[in-house]
Amino acid sequence: MSSTPVYKLDPAAPDPALIEQAAAVIRGGGLVAFPTETVYGLGANALDAQAVERIFAAKQRPANDPIIVHIHDDRQLRLVARDMTAAAWRMVEAFFPGALTLVLHRGDAVPPSVSSGLPTVAVRMPSGTIARALLAAAEVPIAAPSANTFSRPSATTAQHVVQDLDGRIDLILDGGATAIGVESTVLDMTGDTPTVLRPGGVTLESLRALLPNLRVREKYTAMDSKTADVSPGMLIKHYAPRATVHVFAGDDAEAIAAMRQRAASLLSEGKRVGVLLFDEERPQFDGLRVDIDSLGSIDTLETAAARLFAALRDLDAHGVDAIVVRAPKRKGLGAAIYDRLRRAAQGIITNV
Ligand code: TXA
Ligand code: MG
Repeated sequence: MSSTPVYKLDPAAPDPALIEQAAAVIRGGGLVAFPTETVYGLGANALDAQAVERIFAAKQRPANDPIIVHIHDDRQLRLVARDMTAAAWRMVEAFFPGALTLVLHRGDAVPPSVSSGLPTVAVRMPSGTIARALLAAAEVPIAAPSANTFSRPSATTAQHVVQDLDGRIDLILDGGATAIGVESTVLDMTGDTPTVLRPGGVTLESLRALLPNLRVREKYTAMDSKTADVSPGMLIKHYAPRATVHVFAGDDAEAIAAMRQRAASLLSEGKRVGVLLFDEERPQFDGLRVDIDSLGSIDTLETAAARLFAALRDLDAHGVDAIVVRAPKRKGLGAAIYDRLRRAAQGIITNV
């Protein structure tokens, strides 16, 4: 039984009357979940501190975790950010609209609570048609974190939003599964050196082509030891299913052997085990009584990204106690997938 209304929309041609109703909810200070090209967002009027307060409450999100402001056009960009550098404008020209979020100096129009009191603001111009239509109709920038309960995997379908937020928000726009499936790349352009704070839908390689001095925040890079990397203190629990997550990285054949061994040992402890694998690895798990879900072929990381959060949620729904999964190499979209798996495992990756 859903108590939050769900409007089904065709992403190719969203019904203007329904979009206008959603825009009216935003202008009235309410909360609307909507699809973007990355994941579903939980939106409120970014210029209304009380509306933004409702986002934190609905998500049970700590007030010290700042929210991304979504904009429709350059006019709104100038409203929410100030003192942008030439390099920041180059990134806007190259990647907006799209899966890149820029951290910029916050404009006075944006209430400090949106940014948890920071002097900066994270800004993104989404390319998804429903998100763009909603922004155009609302005529205000929309503050929107991912539309999941805090620390749960992000929502890539309207059903995921219902699972987490039904009855806590005013309206859900259902535009089907999101195309990219992992969140935007967050790039801080306020310091001397452009710094990636979160890898995401825009690859590090494509950023580096325009920003040769690009830095990636350390907590995402120091990962090449042969031992388990344990640094959960640096990471908030995030993207976590209810099951414990066991992530393996490294040479393909050895990593798969280690995954099989871990799955077998968890089974022998009486645990119910899910394995999240790439199609090529499926035969290696023959004969084990595990629940299997696939991220598609190892060669199509786009598919893996698009399926990742839904797969974690589906294995949870099957009631598994543990999920054994292999992280892809950190190239292209692999960097974002690796990051999300690492956080789902609370920082612990076994390098084989
Ligand atoms: O793809 C996405 O980015 C999705 C869709 C809905 O746009 N949004 C999203 O929002 O993933 P959220 O709240 O789940 O993640 C926002 C990230 C967090 O890691 C947050 O710490 C960072 O952006 N962030 C937001 N404002 C910031 C700021 N002023 N400085 C540094 N980091 C910031
Ligand atoms: Mg999130």
